[in-house]
Amino acid sequence: MDKLIVKGGVRLKGRVNISGSKNSALPILAATLLTPETCVIRNVPDLSDIRFMLEILSRLGAKVTFEDGVVTTRAEKVDSETPYDLVRKMRASICVLGPIIARCGRAKISEPGGCVIGDRPIDIHLKGLAALGAESRMEGGDVYVTSKELVGKEIFLGGKFGSTVLGTDNVMMAATRARGLTIIESAACEPEVRDLAEFLRKMGAKIVGQGTRRMEIEGVDHLHGAEHSIIPDRIEAGTFMVGALITQGDVVLTGIEPEHLVNLIDRLKSCGAHINPEASGLRITTPHELSSVDFVTETYPGFPTDMQAQMCALMSVTPGISAITEKIFPHRFMHLSELRRMGASVELEGATAIIHGVEHLSGAPVMASDLRASAALVLAGLVAQGTTEVNRVYHIDRGYEHIDQKLSALGAQIERIR
Ligand code: EPU
Repeated sequence: MDKLIVKGGVRLKGRVNISGSKNSALPILAATLLTPETCVIRNVPDLSDIRFMLEILSRLGAKVTFEDGVVTTRAEKVDSETPYDLVRKMRASICVLGPIIARCGRAKISEPGGCVIGDRPIDIHLKGLAALGAESRMEGGDVYVTSKELVGKEIFLGGKFGSTVLGTDNVMMAATRARGLTIIESAACEPEVRDLAEFLRKMGAKIVGQGTRRMEIEGVDHLHGAEHSIIPDRIEAGTFMVGALITQGDVVLTGIEPEHLVNLIDRLKSCGAHINPEASGLRITTPHELSSVDFVTETYPGFPTDMQAQMCALMSVTPGISAITEKIFPHRFMHLSELRRMGASVELEGATAIIHGVEHLSGAPVMASDLRASAALVLAGLVAQGTTEVNRVYHIDRGYEHIDQKLSALGAQIERIR
């Protein structure tokens, strides 16, 4: 297993180009199963989660190539059974469910179960598909979904934690091939959901309202092949912004969509960060000491849960007291105990982390528990005194393309030990 060795104390300086969004690419790749024709998807990041998805597509019968960020797929035939050994490795593989149902009229997929960031049910996905006429039953840890015919319906997709991203994706994808009109109320508005809708429209789907709480999808008989370029990864961009701030650096992010980052930029500016557009990107500098900030994670356009761990690292070394409340995944705080081992002063009260900024963190061997937690530990390592050894780096490789190389190019002392 690889580990990352980070020597703290270097200010990040330079330019970094942001990769395509993992969370946009995964459902878009799944959506290529909706057509027997060829699809070409560009700006796909080379990540282990993407490789898992491509393997799932090929095991389901698609012909797939991936070269220089371009994926080509052709799914002339689609199998209805998803391989357990792959699904269990990646929870996001649930987003093949909607396309398989639409294409085959039945699907078998392993219940993805929980993960280290908490309980991750799929009840809302199944409720939405049931409203379209696809009944499901559980047996032996697998979910079996069958439908004679998908028929459009008005569906409320909210849950106790708000809307669901992949649930909205699944119902939207199934609805593209349902008879009649589907209306999704309380749809997820994340830019990644919108990107999927844009791709589906290029395939011939009739969708309006993407990016809002109410989407309307008029089913069509046939979807055709299409080309699409994935939007930039707003969470990778946010992680590099925090990297610039935590090291008091000066970094220009290129290839990003600042409007996808409005909430994060607002929070960081209220800490004192200078974030300014430049001809080719967004420049992040810290001219003086930052101050602490409170925030609550919410669905888009609220503060993203996928940036919570990285912000915990930043607040650990920012003077003052910060209260960070997690409303999407209330147990997503595994990184706190590792940050504490590096000297952070953190208490957890329910789903709120209370962080007292300390003058410095000290390098230590730490264990990554999930993707964003591992990013937080790398960020903490960049500012800590001494050396931090981040173990279980495979988590970070799921969602950050060449993170060690990108950080090295900005001057960080980071080394991957294989
Ligand atoms: N939920 C339910 N029932 C459902 C579905 C969701 O109760 O049927 C709950 C979840 O347990 C959670 C909340 O609803 O409390 C929101 O979960 P959501 O369904 O939106 O999450 P997801 O679609 O499974 C995607 C991202 C996550 C990101 C969340 C929230 C992908 C591949 N994954 O997951 O990304 O945290 O939305 O924004 O798009 C990551 O990249 O590190 C990551 C975990």
